[in-house]
Amino acid sequence: MSDAGSTLRNRKPATSESAQDDTPDVAKKLAAVAPKPESGSFLSFLFLVFGVVSLTAFAVAAGRYLYYQNPADYFWPKPREPWAAVPGEAEWVVDFAADLEKRNAVVAAFKHAWSAYERDAMGDDEYHPIARKGTNLTEAGGIGYTVIDSIDTMLIMGLTDEYDRARHWVENSMSFDRDADFNTFEARLLSAYELSDGDELFLARAVDLADRMLPVFDTPSGLPYSRVNLATRVGSPDPDHRGLVSTAEAATLQLEFRYLGYLTDNLDYWDKVENVMKVISQARLPKGLTPIFMNFEVGKFITSEIRLGSRADSYFEYLLKQYLQTGSVETNYRLMYDDAMQAIHDNLIEVSKRQKLTYTVEIHPRRQMASPEMSWVRTLKQDHLVCFLGGSLMLGATTAHARPSAAGSVSIPPNESQLSPVGQRDWTTGANLIETCVDTYRTATGLSPEIVHFREGIDSGKGDWYIKDAKPPGEPPVYDARYILRPETVESLFIAWRLTGHPKYRRYGWEIFQAIETHCRVPGGGYASVLNVEEVPVTWEDKMETFLMMADVTQSETLKYLYLLFSDETVLPLDQYVFNTEAHPLPIFRPTARAGHF
Ligand SMILES: *[C@@H]1O[C@H](CO)[C@@H](O)[C@H](O)[C@H]1NC(C)=O
Ligand SMILES: *[C@@H]1O[C@H](CO)[C@@H](O)[C@H](O)[C@H]1NC(C)=O
Repeated sequence: MSDAGSTLRNRKPATSESAQDDTPDVAKKLAAVAPKPESGSFLSFLFLVFGVVSLTAFAVAAGRYLYYQNPADYFWPKPREPWAAVPGEAEWVVDFAADLEKRNAVVAAFKHAWSAYERDAMGDDEYHPIARKGTNLTEAGGIGYTVIDSIDTMLIMGLTDEYDRARHWVENSMSFDRDADFNTFEARLLSAYELSDGDELFLARAVDLADRMLPVFDTPSGLPYSRVNLATRVGSPDPDHRGLVSTAEAATLQLEFRYLGYLTDNLDYWDKVENVMKVISQARLPKGLTPIFMNFEVGKFITSEIRLGSRADSYFEYLLKQYLQTGSVETNYRLMYDDAMQAIHDNLIEVSKRQKLTYTVEIHPRRQMASPEMSWVRTLKQDHLVCFLGGSLMLGATTAHARPSAAGSVSIPPNESQLSPVGQRDWTTGANLIETCVDTYRTATGLSPEIVHFREGIDSGKGDWYIKDAKPPGEPPVYDARYILRPETVESLFIAWRLTGHPKYRRYGWEIFQAIETHCRVPGGGYASVLNVEEVPVTWEDKMETFLMMADVTQSETLKYLYLLFSDETVLPLDQYVFNTEAHPLPIFRPTARAGHF
């Protein structure tokens, strides 16, 4: 036990009283190592001791209450599995030909969703297919949230009639001049700009929205506020988490603002989001760990949960994607990505005991009873949101972690000699995580719950994961049990398919699509969330709840990835596009100006 450790344990919170209480102990220690004071300077020595003690007490208390203590040493890295191109699979024939029948079924599903929205709620931010009406995110009027979310899907799917009407709406009816606070969100319009071969309408709208959002970065640290008034252009903190911004929110505008900076030669966009990454980079805890909350005043992490799902996901996703977006020249992002993936492997990756499912855990801070000390506990909980990670790790393995001799020419599927040892590790973890995510769809409905927990050991007769506090059919289900049309698993399936050509990824995607068609499709048009994935027949969710505010009502994300899964490999190739966290593709480009210098 070190001196610092015993100081930390002995000390009560930093009231001046308790600091005085503790003075004798520490003063004795200090006196033992300090040179014998001259009698004349004894008073100033006492002052010094008192000052040091008070400062230490304050720093310790501040550290305990505000800033994170690194838990990395609590857990051990897991041994690496032997490498295989697709773990557990024999050889297969790679055939990327489009599966037109399935692809057409996906297009029909999108039309089913869009046509209902267009019929009942065109222009409104959200749509409730059972009530058959739209609502807006705020009272101040809609911003066309659903239209801008869907328009590039129409371009990808070749739906020219729908696209023409949507474009007409953007040109004539869309306005961002709304006097209310909006959560910052990605504009998505740059994908439409790109896929329409440079229709200036979309660029102009993207610039308008970005200019309204720029003030979110006007904080002392440069980390963004969570919310912004689009009319008055004033940023404000999340009312539920004053002074805080989630790591995912801080790192969500990066891809778009960088591309916008490149397109417009206005580097302000670029600098603002790059500065955020710099602040995060410097605030990271030892060994690359990052909790879910930051303090935007001081630009530091707050003692809070460490996980990959909600409030964290896009940060992790964008480390790799920022590196890929600019043609793999910004090594600062590459290094951050490497550190983060190492930290994840050292701390957050687990394998279940019976089914050998690879999954991710969370680490939660806990104040111990009768002790001011903080400890960290692992919670074996995985959000559906984490399912982006499987595909992301595989993509990182074939790009950032290809061996130099294979860079840019990794085969499909890759072989062991083309990937670095870290690349092999990430590839295996990624492929296994996808299997786990697919396994969470093995429910009564074939849909995945929003959150699963894993069992520490083996519980005979039971699977390795479960829905916590699950209620029997008929009773009001828990939050974790719902399926809210999340796209992350099909995103990973699409990436794994493009990188391996293994037909099982299309099979998995088709099974998920059929479960959605069976249980989420509303006959009169649209798709609804399901309240309990283990209950058949299902109960739909149609109420407006805040967690659904940003729900993808026309399913454009999920259906876009499914469309790509059944397309041939020339549609949006992964070496030419990066997808933002909302499934909007942006082209890979070479920056003209300086980039990535922090
Ligand atoms: C949403 O906002 C738009 C634009 O102000 C408005 O035309 C529309 O009626 C609003 N929809 C609802 C359901 O309030
Ligand atoms: C891996 O791929 C490279 C390049 O395509 C090839 O030269 C090499 O022989 C392959 N190695 C194995 C073990 O298949």
